[in-house]
Amino acid sequence: MSRLRVYDDYDPSNPHLDTRDHAAMAAELAKINVGFEQWEASQPVVPGASPDEVLTAYRKDVDRLVAENGFKTVDVVSIKPDHPDRTMMRQKFLDEHFHKEDEVRFFVAGAGQFTLHVDGKVYEILCETGDLIHVPDGTKHWFDMGAQPSFIAIRFFTEPDGWVGHFTGSDIAQKFPSYETSPPA
Ligand SMILES: [Fe+2]
Repeated sequence: MSRLRVYDDYDPSNPHLDTRDHAAMAAELAKINVGFEQWEASQPVVPGASPDEVLTAYRKDVDRLVAENGFKTVDVVSIKPDHPDRTMMRQKFLDEHFHKEDEVRFFVAGAGQFTLHVDGKVYEILCETGDLIHVPDGTKHWFDMGAQPSFIAIRFFTEPDGWVGHFTGSDIAQKFPSYETSPPA
């Protein structure tokens, strides 16, 4: 199940909020302008589905999000546990960084952990199948897909060529639970 834990940024051992309730998660994240929604497929998405089939299954919500935010491109990324570049791909965004555009991901299948660092608090969000997360530009965060990553995600971009991580140089990400050391879903 999806999960949100909220900590003070100086105390990685004591989350003062721990919830798996979608509505409670969305309400807490809305306070920091982070979007969190659940989407349902209009038709089954089978393993090996093409990107077009994936997008068709979520067309209504994809079109709504694009219309609301002016995203220019939408794609589908699929990563399996035996991906030859999985270690490098995982490492890329494990340290605290931000982007100059929103980071928007919908989890068609599988899971990944976003951790956000906002106003002295740390928000650890385990995203699972059916979860949409919308992180505003400039929000400091890191993303952990685990050592054996497994997910299919729809990504939304405003400027795909400009989507790069700006790293803060902080080591805070290493102090908080990773995908593997946080409680099992
Ligand atoms: Fe990021």
